[in-house]
Amino acid sequence: MLSISVEEFSFWKKKQLSKGGDQQSFALLLDCIGGISTSDLNLISIYPEGNLHLKQNLEFLESIWNEHLLKSCPIQYLCGITFWRDLELKVSNKVLIPRPETELIVDIVCNLFKNKSEKLFFAELGTGSGAISIALALAYPSSVGVATDIDQDALEIATKNYINSSKQSNLKFYCGNWWSPLESFKGKLDLAISNPPYIPKDTYEKLPKEVKNFEPKVALLGGEDGLKHIREITQKAPLFLKEKGWLILENHFDQGEKVKQLLIKNKFTSIEIVKDLSGIGRFTIGRYK
Ligand SMILES: C[S@@+](CC[C@H](N)C(=O)[O-])C[C@H]1O[C@@H](n2cnc3c(N)ncnc32)[C@H](O)[C@@H]1O
Repeated sequence: MLSISVEEFSFWKKKQLSKGGDQQSFALLLDCIGGISTSDLNLISIYPEGNLHLKQNLEFLESIWNEHLLKSCPIQYLCGITFWRDLELKVSNKVLIPRPETELIVDIVCNLFKNKSEKLFFAELGTGSGAISIALALAYPSSVGVATDIDQDALEIATKNYINSSKQSNLKFYCGNWWSPLESFKGKLDLAISNPPYIPKDTYEKLPKEVKNFEPKVALLGGEDGLKHIREITQKAPLFLKEKGWLILENHFDQGEKVKQLLIKNKFTSIEIVKDLSGIGRFTIGRYK
């Protein structure tokens, strides 16, 4: 640990933020690499005469901040960590950085299944860092979850995140295309969730460089109209869900109505487009018959 005066630290912090970037990214860098949490930062304003203890020196932290600003590389990838709900997750450029709006999927499930000791059998398709599945496996300790991804590197990160977050073994990971690794679970699922790649091709080409140059294309691109994967997942879902089993999909801001039609076509009922905190119809949910 390195000791540094609050005065010197505050001067340095102001200098770094004057170069650009946002407070939230800087706070993540300080927390994950520097060992200075947001509550430490709050204390600084109360005791400006004290000292701070850093895990890394200021030059090292500055070099990461400069790389973030110069290359537009997400700070989460440079730190190798992100925070999502109450989880601390490892991330690399093999996985999408889980987004705050996706956190609501867990709340949607908690609204549908209020009894936390319920023995759910759930599947997540396209798990990436494992965020959604891990949160559900922790929220429903008596449940069993299976999570798939096409990318073995992503699954290795998801597995590490699960081991770091849970003492249980109620979540298993499988590699393969959407439903195909789950053949033996046909007709057995109470619930299936997916935040699949849903960005239409034209929109993908115009994504900000911090997304397009760093986050995996396989996690973002949803074909010409963005619905390629949602179509495949929805069509096969009836084979895997129990009768009255739920399907929960995240979609692009303007896809809710189209996803609703896909669910109707595939004989789902109780269909609802659920808004995120910005009022966008971000999730479409339905029940198989
Ligand atoms: C939008 S990301 C979601 C990641 C994570 N669930 C989350 O919400 O942060 C989509 C994920 O689907 C995976 N994926 C893409 N195509 C797939 C396919 N054909 N079969 C299974 N998984 C796929 C990607 O590797 C990526 O991890």
